[in-house]
Amino acid sequence: MALIEFNNVGKAFTSRSGAQFVAVQDFSLQIQKGEFFCLLGPSGCGKTTVLGMLAGFAEPTTGRITVDGATISGPTRDRGVVFQGDDSLFGWLTALDNIEFGLRLRGLRKGERRDTAMRYLELVGLHGQQDKFPAELSGGMKQRIQIARALANEPKILLMDEPFGALDAQTREIMQRELRQICTMTGSSVLFITHDIDEAIALGSRVGIMTAGPAGTLKDVISIELEERSRTDMRYVEYYAKIQGTIRHEVERATRQHTRRKAA
Ligand SMILES: Nc1ncnc2c1ncn2[C@@H]1O[C@H](COP(=O)(O)OP(=O)(O)O)[C@@H](O)[C@H]1O
Ligand SMILES: [Mg+2]
Repeated sequence: MALIEFNNVGKAFTSRSGAQFVAVQDFSLQIQKGEFFCLLGPSGCGKTTVLGMLAGFAEPTTGRITVDGATISGPTRDRGVVFQGDDSLFGWLTALDNIEFGLRLRGLRKGERRDTAMRYLELVGLHGQQDKFPAELSGGMKQRIQIARALANEPKILLMDEPFGALDAQTREIMQRELRQICTMTGSSVLFITHDIDEAIALGSRVGIMTAGPAGTLKDVISIELEERSRTDMRYVEYYAKIQGTIRHEVERATRQHTRRKAA
């Protein structure tokens, strides 16, 4: 049995006028324990919706999502989430206290809490920033605190929604390397959402590509078999070209549909 299973999952939203909008349809995927799965797709295809359902924030309208065979009924601590934005930190807590927050809920003692939080603060490259409040930190720093906070809880499953989007290129590369190392070390399973092909190839053990919305679904899943994730490796270039071709096709298809709808 796979750790995570999406079985024909769909999600429809009802607008205020009562119209139904199908965001995700027939989404089926299995993620094994310890796997680093990257979900790629054009903007609006339903990536965040998929992640939100696995997190337990929203229920599927059709189909079923299970973790360890049990249907998801809400958020739990063994599924840690890092969002796209950087605004989910507690403004009245320091950087370190924000990272410690979950550890406090878990009942860890003060000394152990501090040590663990400091370790993750350093891991995300924020040594010396522990006493600052979110308002005193840059967007990228806040994003790294969020990541440290999620990692400090050592969740079984990490759900990350374009977590490095706001970081500069150098920091992003460092964070990608760290994240891979941490996940290999902890054996965490990851669902990582991105629209950046390089990022997906750099991180994923498999990369799933979604069709353009509405009614987004999985179009293709590719296993990345590369020891060194180097952009100069011929096979890296081949993966890139293959994924890019699929996504371009999807974006063009969506644009055509949009133009047709407007003309109608
Ligand atoms: N709560 C909601 N109510 C209505 N429509 C939504 C809601 N959340 C997302 N959508 C729609 O579902 C589609 C997929 O959104 P989303 O999952 O955020 O896409 P992505 O993350 O791939 O950019 C979009 O067309 C979006 O407008
Ligand atoms: Mg999104």
